[in-house]
Amino acid sequence: MTINLVIVSGTVFGAAEDVAHHAAELFTEAGLNVTYQPRISYAELVVLEPDALLFITSTTGMGELPENLQPLVSALREKTPQWHGLFGGVIGLGDACYGDDFCAGGIRELYEELGVVEVQEMLRLDASETVTPERDAEPWLIEFVASLPV
Ligand SMILES: Cc1cc2nc3c(=O)[nH]c(=O)nc-3n(C[C@H](O)[C@H](O)[C@H](O)COP(=O)(O)O)c2cc1C
Repeated sequence: MTINLVIVSGTVFGAAEDVAHHAAELFTEAGLNVTYQPRISYAELVVLEPDALLFITSTTGMGELPENLQPLVSALREKTPQWHGLFGGVIGLGDACYGDDFCAGGIRELYEELGVVEVQEMLRLDASETVTPERDAEPWLIEFVASLPV
């Protein structure tokens, strides 16, 4: 079975998009069928009929998702596509100095609402500890691929 993996990103300053592009390259090299459109809409996402989803998003305000991702997440909450059992992963980019709001965008809660199953624990990339988030994400990305039934 070839897994149809879709990467979705949310960013303010571009770091999450860099990680997403890097993830797409890695997954393509690993032979997965990957789609990454930085500004994907709800309609475009649903039409892709993903088997697996990877959300890579930073956190802004006080624990909020970036503006570019909010319309998609609202539409997913409202329309709740039938995605029970779909494989999911989350990479959060944030800064631990925000305490309880560190990487608190709410994607894991969204997965719960949709029935998406996280195949491994969320990765949190702390901007106060890394200046190379795409490289730091690599071990997690490799494990993510390994945990998908390909
Ligand atoms: C105005 C502002 C608000 C932020 N709020 C949060 C927050 O609530 N929680 C968090 O973990 N990080 C927060 N951050 C840190 C960013 O998420 C972090 O720097 C991230 O790496 C930015 O990624 P991006 O370039 O993809 O936007 C904030 C940063 C700024 C500038």
